Amino acid sequence: MSYPEFEKKVNVTDLYPEFITADESLRVETVEDVEKAKKLQLAHNNQYRTEAAMAIGAGDVAVKAEGAYWWDVNGVKHLDFIGSVGPALLGLNNPFVVEKVKKYLDAHLITMDPLMLHQTTAAFSYNMSLITPYLPRTVVCCGGAEAVETLLKMVRLASYRTKKGRTRMLSTNNAFHGKTQATVNLGGKAKWRMWQGPDLPGYTHVPFGDWRAAEEEMKKGDVIAFFCEPIQGEGGINVPPEDYLPKMRELCTKYDVYFCLDEVQAGSCRTGYLWAYQYYGDKARPDALTFAKAMSDSLVPVGGVLASEDLYMAAYGNDETAFFHTATYQDNQISGITALACLEFMIEADVPGTIRKNAPYFWDGLRRIQKKYPNIIKDVRGRGYMIGIEYGQNKAGEYYTVEVCKHMSVVSHVSTMFTINNDAVCRIYPNYWATKEDFDWALKALDDACAYVTETMGK
Ligand SMILES: Cc1ncc(COP(=O)(O)O)c(C=O)c1O
Repeated sequence: MSYPEFEKKVNVTDLYPEFITADESLRVETVEDVEKAKKLQLAHNNQYRTEAAMAIGAGDVAVKAEGAYWWDVNGVKHLDFIGSVGPALLGLNNPFVVEKVKKYLDAHLITMDPLMLHQTTAAFSYNMSLITPYLPRTVVCCGGAEAVETLLKMVRLASYRTKKGRTRMLSTNNAFHGKTQATVNLGGKAKWRMWQGPDLPGYTHVPFGDWRAAEEEMKKGDVIAFFCEPIQGEGGINVPPEDYLPKMRELCTKYDVYFCLDEVQAGSCRTGYLWAYQYYGDKARPDALTFAKAMSDSLVPVGGVLASEDLYMAAYGNDETAFFHTATYQDNQISGITALACLEFMIEADVPGTIRKNAPYFWDGLRRIQKKYPNIIKDVRGRGYMIGIEYGQNKAGEYYTVEVCKHMSVVSHVSTMFTINNDAVCRIYPNYWATKEDFDWALKALDDACAYVTETMGK
């Protein structure tokens, strides 16, 4: 069946003369159009967040975005070295992924119906079980915080059914796991939960990288799960000591605690491994992991959990608890086809291998600039295309972070962004399509910005 032309009962603009139609919203061709979009967003969405983006030279409209570039309304080409703060690792509007999503939409299936089978999501989940056979159960949802919530609930429910008496989640100082109520309590920054009065019970934080502190907590016998990021993202691109994650795996096994890795930011190839823990071979294999960001390629919201059979079945392996965590959009087909297309591209284009091969050139350049401006750049750290630059402070105690970031964006048209739990650190997130010329472009932008802040902010 094809739809007949619908009978228009009224012109929407006769009823609401100011109404902006869908077609109009897509038409951003002039500076005035951009200003209008800005005004609307400031008035009707998150005003102060928008203003904060504008303060670092972001908060613009991309009239076109492809590969590692986006173009503004004046035709200026920008280098996207932040990737929508993580998701656009496979390139902006990656044609392989876009084509599968379009094909899906053209097939006129049912996307969100929780009662129907979800063949695209089931295929993605099956494929993941081929790649990580010890994590054969998948839940697909619509974002990182939702993924972490899903896993928090899974381990708590599993524990309620199988390890009665355990009450606590263990996580790390400075961690970021999202901004829903449970995830800010799991997260390691008090600021994100100060509004709620007392912290929710059942969350304990230990220093990231300190397995001894974690073991002291586990010895008490009431820990359900240990959560951490393989590399802390918002905490400032913190790479743990080499033995930390393997040791945490060992301890979790010893104390019968679920080992849960939040791979929302570090996962999906960003560090040069499909999952960041794979850097350690098999030594840091989790009982479950969360993913989001780059498994969406910044096209359609995607998040999810991969879990072991034991964990999943302990939580949801019966008729009753199977309904304890359902949602209308859970396992929906458009997130499923998007994740599936991303995964297929990651494998066929060898995204992890490409990142491991190309990253050293850029890292060498960053370290050269660090040597040139030792007072401005204190550290360059991360792995693969998950790169953090830690800046120093001037005599007045101001970090150079925001000014460098702004200069790179406004003067050199290179987009980067600071981390939200660490004022000293700015991240640079190249994407798969970045060329040697793009790396040179970003390096020159950083060099120029460091020279600028040396002049204007003092040493
Ligand atoms: C490690 C980690 N977990 C969870 C989240 C939350 O993801 P979202 O912003 O999609 O809710 C983020 C977001 O930056 C993250 O970095």
